[in-house]
Amino acid sequence: MNKIRKIGIIGAGNMGEALIAGFLKSKAYSPQDVYGSEIIEKRREYIKNTYHIECFDDAKKLVEHSDLIIIAVKPYNVKDVLESIGKKITAEKTLVSIAAGIRLDFMKKNLPEDVPIIRVMPNLACFVREGMMAICPSDNTPKEKLEDVEEVLSLLGKVIILDEKYFDAVTGLVGSGPAYIYLIIEALSDAGVRLGLPRDVAMTLSAQTTLGAGKMVVETGEHPAKLKDKVVTPGGTTIEGLIELERGRVRAALIDAVIRASERAKELSKA
Ligand SMILES: NC(=O)c1ccc[n+]([C@@H]2O[C@H](COP(=O)([O-])OP(=O)(O)OC[C@H]3O[C@@H](n4cnc5c(N)ncnc54)[C@H](OP(=O)(O)O)[C@@H]3O)[C@@H](O)[C@H]2O)c1
Repeated sequence: MNKIRKIGIIGAGNMGEALIAGFLKSKAYSPQDVYGSEIIEKRREYIKNTYHIECFDDAKKLVEHSDLIIIAVKPYNVKDVLESIGKKITAEKTLVSIAAGIRLDFMKKNLPEDVPIIRVMPNLACFVREGMMAICPSDNTPKEKLEDVEEVLSLLGKVIILDEKYFDAVTGLVGSGPAYIYLIIEALSDAGVRLGLPRDVAMTLSAQTTLGAGKMVVETGEHPAKLKDKVVTPGGTTIEGLIELERGRVRAALIDAVIRASERAKELSKA
C-alpha cells in the first residue's frame, strides 16, 4: 500500500497550485491530506479559500505534517528552503523538487545525508491531471519510495523515469512546452478572429483542435507526419496552409525555442 498519506507543497505559485488542484481533483487525497506553504500572505489566503487546505507561512510546519514534501519555489529560492527545512526532514519522508536546473547533487549537499530526494520536471497541465513528468531519484532513494512517488505523481498525468543528464532537455520541452502551445492556440484563434469569428468561438475551435491533434498522436501512437498526411488532400486547402507555415519557418522556430530553453536550464544549474 502507498505510504504517502500526506503531501506538502512548498511554494503555492503557478506550479504549486497546479499540483494542489490536481491532487484534490484526483479524489485520492482530500483537503485534509494536502498542505501548502507560501510566504505571500495574499496568496496563502487565496489557496486556503479556493482549495480549503491548510496553507502555512512557515515551511517547517508543513514538513512536520507531510510524508512527501514537494519544493515548488523558484530555483533561486531552493537553497533557502533547504536550509530552513533541512533539520526537520528525516529519512522516513521523501523530498521532491520541481525546480528547473536544480540538480540532485546540490540538494543532497544541503540536506541530511539519508533523505531520499527525487527530482521532477512537470508542467502546468498537472492542474487538469494531464501533466507530463520526468522523474529521477537520488542514489539513496529506496525502490519502494520511488514507486510510491511514481504512483502519487501518476495522479497528475504521465510519469517517466529518466536519467538526470536529460533534465535540461526535458525542461525545455516539457516544463516550458505548454507556453509554446498556448502561443500557437492564441495565434490560431487570432486567425479565426481575422476571418470574422467571435473571439470565444475562435478560442474554443483552436483549443479543441489542438487537444484533439495531441490526443490522436498519444492514443494512436502514429507518427505525426503520417497523421498530417491524412489531413492533406492533394491540391486542397491544408497544403496551402502548411506551405505558409514552412515559409514562416515555424518548424525551425519551435526547435530553436526548445534548444534555447534547455540551454537556459543548464545556465540556471550552474548559477
Ligand atoms: N510554471 C511552470 O509551468 C513550471 C513548470 C515546471 C517547473 N516549474 C518550476 O516550479 C517552480 C515554481 O515555479 P512557478 O512558476 O510556480 O513560480 P511562482 O509562481 O513564482 O511560485 C513560487 C511561489 O513560492 C513562493 N515562495 C518563495 N520562497 C518561499 C518559501 N521559502 N516558502 C514558501 N513559499 C515560497 C513565491 O513567493 P515570491 O514570489 O515572493 O518568491 C511564489 O509565490 C520553479 O522552480 C520552476 O522552475 C515551473
